[in-house]
Amino acid sequence: METAYLNGSFLPKQDIKISPDDRGFLFGDGIYEVMKWYAGFFYDPQGHLERLRRSMREIRIDWSQSGDFLAVSRELIRANSLDNEHALIYLQVTRGTAPRNHAFPEPAVEPTVYAFARKAGGFKDDPGPAVPVLLTKDIRWSRCDIKSIALLANTISFQNAHEKGMKECIFVRDGFITEGSRSNIFLVADNIIYTYPQSDYILSGITRKNIIRYAGEAGLEVREEPFPETRIHTLQEAFFCNSSSELTPVSSFGDVKIGSGSAGQVTMKIYEQFRADLASLKG
Ligand code: PDD
Repeated sequence: METAYLNGSFLPKQDIKISPDDRGFLFGDGIYEVMKWYAGFFYDPQGHLERLRRSMREIRIDWSQSGDFLAVSRELIRANSLDNEHALIYLQVTRGTAPRNHAFPEPAVEPTVYAFARKAGGFKDDPGPAVPVLLTKDIRWSRCDIKSIALLANTISFQNAHEKGMKECIFVRDGFITEGSRSNIFLVADNIIYTYPQSDYILSGITRKNIIRYAGEAGLEVREEPFPETRIHTLQEAFFCNSSSELTPVSSFGDVKIGSGSAGQVTMKIYEQFRADLASLKG
């Protein structure tokens, strides 16, 4: 039996009921976090908590118990017997339940806080085979920095990639490569690593932030600069990253092949640094 969290209680997931008037259901009016558990520790829990709070601030939702985020996550791991597994915590906070009206409820209602834990893949010995991705127009809004639960543009775009046998879709906005539908992207050209700068057009990924640190530790040059789509054929390597699957090398953007079909040298160096960090966190 799966245990999930709703508004202060841990309950059998199958018994959880959410009002049809919840603004998350009616408007997609909420934000979320996804954090990985590595059989004994969470990866950058402080980073996730800070981003959760920032997302809430940006859309003016007040979950006064947000300080419980880590304790709730830990209890979900325990209650679902995932202590010695790799797992993901999903937590979302919506503006709460009120009759449908575009204006925020007045007076404010309690937010709806829902979370679950799910078994996930572990960190692999190597980044695995490179995968094809679809390059596609970014049809999302211009506040991609908010980890909104309203992900229709992401899911439609990802589905298009999925139906073509591709593993991610990478967005292009104003001629520049921004990020994936559920990941950030790093691009290597002339031995320099490029990733789109923190801005309204990307989610500031926790993995992205740490990969920039790993690259620095490995003596690699990273530029947080927009990379033009027109230069894609000059790429030596590329990989996308997120909390659930860490780092995945890219073999092609549409028809444009990249590298040799497996992780390149720069990707491998960063991967090794990632692995060493996880080993040190494990203690
Ligand atoms: N997605 N960009 C987007 C649009 C994302 O949805 C994600 C994460 C990232 C990477 O962020 P992080 O490194 O903090 O996981 C970048 C999660 C995993 C999801 O929606 O399931």
